[in-house]
Amino acid sequence: MKVLVTGGAGYIGSHACLELLRAGHEVVGFDNLSNSSEKAISRVRELSGKPLRFERLDLLDKQGLGRLMKEGFDAVMHFAGLKAVGESVEKPDLYRRNNVEGSANLLAAMKAADCRNLVFSSSCTVYGAVQKNPVTESHPRAAVNPYGETKLAVEDMCFELARVEKGWRIALLRYFNPVGADASGCIGEDPKGMPNNLMPFVMQTAVGRRDKVRVWGNDYPTPDGTGVRDYIHVTDLALGHLAALGRLDRFDGALAVNLGAGRGYSVLEVIRAASKAAGKDIPYEIRPRRPGDAAAIWADPSFAKKSIGWGATRGLDEMCADHCRWQTQNPEGFAS
Ligand SMILES: NC(=O)c1ccc[n+]([C@@H]2O[C@H](COP(=O)([O-])OP(=O)(O)OC[C@H]3O[C@@H](n4cnc5c(N)ncnc54)[C@H](O)[C@@H]3O)[C@@H](O)[C@H]2O)c1
Repeated sequence: MKVLVTGGAGYIGSHACLELLRAGHEVVGFDNLSNSSEKAISRVRELSGKPLRFERLDLLDKQGLGRLMKEGFDAVMHFAGLKAVGESVEKPDLYRRNNVEGSANLLAAMKAADCRNLVFSSSCTVYGAVQKNPVTESHPRAAVNPYGETKLAVEDMCFELARVEKGWRIALLRYFNPVGADASGCIGEDPKGMPNNLMPFVMQTAVGRRDKVRVWGNDYPTPDGTGVRDYIHVTDLALGHLAALGRLDRFDGALAVNLGAGRGYSVLEVIRAASKAAGKDIPYEIRPRRPGDAAAIWADPSFAKKSIGWGATRGLDEMCADHCRWQTQNPEGFAS
């Protein structure tokens, strides 16, 4: 297939480009590089040994999008978007414009070019304050911050479009917590500034970029008192996109699918596994709970198996070993 990848230079997008190329697809990627480096693209080219065309383009550039889509694609994987929850609270309008308007522009350009096959990066954040684990796709949806609102809005846009217009086949993939890196250690997550997520913080601490990990709360009703989340290896996640792509022809309209491992790990379990991978103790300190954090969230991944024939295969030790390899080989990320 000829696949257009938006946000192709980003963390998950670059791993998806790599797996698409490894599977023999033709890939064109674009990104405005607001949160990524073009180096990720050159590394994907080197790793795959295949050509990968890349353009610097913004989702808000309707003309540019229209021109690119008109080249003719079998499907689009849509990763481009802003994802920092804290920033979304400070700049809700920026998030709405970039993520929601940007996605509307993409859908319009796809329609004009008669390409109606889409795989979209949604998130478990659409489940809001989780009421019951494991979380199934029928769990009620709610937004608890402006970032989450943008994911709900794009999901709704896709559901509505698929309802009113025939021919759309859309996979709304709700990711749990992507971590890890390609096993080569050549591409990986390279957050700008202070990491928002646990694993990059832990690994930056392992290589000395941070002095210690802050653990927010150890008095939750979980086995060791720290928060429990469902972590998924980014390569498993990328392969989930390929699985969805391969089954799109069986879709009729838009379908939401959880991409999670189906089990949770606590913050302390992650720190222990990361210390093992790094070969040293990673220092941490316990801080009070943060308002709004849930005790535990993990996915029910059974619908992914049924609908797209996919399940995660990589466990926590592999996630930590691969993330650690990336961070050790590239202590300053792509600027190393
Ligand atoms: N990483 C996670 O924890 C996580 C979890 C759930 C969902 N998601 C979603 O997955 C997608 C990819 O996330 P990621 O972790 O790879 O983030 P990322 O920031 O590494 O990648 C997103 C890419 O989109 C680009 N981008 C942003 N706005 C753009 C625009 N207007 N035009 C063109 N490019 C633009 C950025 O430069 C970046 O390269 C995002 O939509 C994110 O919301 C991520």
